Amino acid sequence: MENKQNQIKDLEGKKALVTGGTKGIGKAIADRLAEAGATVIVTARNQPNGDINHHFIAADLTQPQDVSSLTDEIDTNFGGVDILINNVGGLTTPGGGFSALTDEHWESELQLNLISGIRLDRALLPKMIERNNGVIIHISSVAAKQALWNLNMAYAVSKAALNAYSKTLSTELAPKGVRVLTVSPGATKTPPMEKFIQDFAASAGITIEEAFNQLLGQVGGIPMGRMAEPSEVASLVHFLVSPAAAYLTGTNYAIDGGSLPVVL
Ligand SMILES: NC(=O)c1ccc[n+]([C@@H]2O[C@H](COP(=O)([O-])OP(=O)(O)OC[C@H]3O[C@@H](n4cnc5c(N)ncnc54)[C@H](OP(=O)(O)O)[C@@H]3O)[C@@H](O)[C@H]2O)c1
Repeated sequence: MENKQNQIKDLEGKKALVTGGTKGIGKAIADRLAEAGATVIVTARNQPNGDINHHFIAADLTQPQDVSSLTDEIDTNFGGVDILINNVGGLTTPGGGFSALTDEHWESELQLNLISGIRLDRALLPKMIERNNGVIIHISSVAAKQALWNLNMAYAVSKAALNAYSKTLSTELAPKGVRVLTVSPGATKTPPMEKFIQDFAASAGITIEEAFNQLLGQVGGIPMGRMAEPSEVASLVHFLVSPAAAYLTGTNYAIDGGSLPVVL
């Protein structure tokens, strides 16, 4: 069946910034918001190869000076944004539990998955508050709710902190007209996820299919039996930033094919 949501032009006149909008989930979100009529700005450290249909601004969001120049450029050229998708993040630290993680690992994981979004919100929020209108989405992960010590301890902690920050911020901003929401994908078919499975297979001396099944086993399996497509996460984000979601704030939406085997 044709996906009618792709054809809804409910973001005409809106300006959106998607961080990490050049690859994976971020790219799918940027494309979807543009299809819905938004003017989309994407940021990443590297200019993507090939054609890009959005305004690109290079920035490393773990660096305060890059966030300042990014927000200055956005303020000058676009007069701020109405929609901010904090998508930058990822698992960059080793598995193996507490003894495998140094101070530097903890600090870099927190910078990438937590502080980068906090810093950017702080820079872009004043204009949203001035207009009494805006939406911020924090892309978290179901990992925040899974205690898998040997796989992703620092990543899970940084995303759990992001969830707490996002909820707290939403209560401060609801009376000021700005909605704040969290989206928590489960395993999603992006290059880093595919590499993670390949590396796990190589280190365990097993096939990719066996590695996929073992990893799924550790998270209780995915009842739908497959990973999410980035475009499926983008559909959820599109809905959440749209006028149809005007009464939603402070909530965290898992999009995980039913994988978390707990009642939340
Ligand atoms: N894939 C999954 O299974 C999955 C599951 C749950 C949650 N998530 C979350 O979803 C989000 C996106 O993940 P993904 O798998 O789509 O990642 P991805 O394919 O690796 O894309 C990451 C994007 O962020 C940019 N980026 C990385 N570090 C950056 C930095 N320091 N400053 C600015 N840009 C930076 C990358 O471009 P450059 O490299 O050029 O900077 C790229 O555009 C992350 O927050 C991740 O934790 C993913």
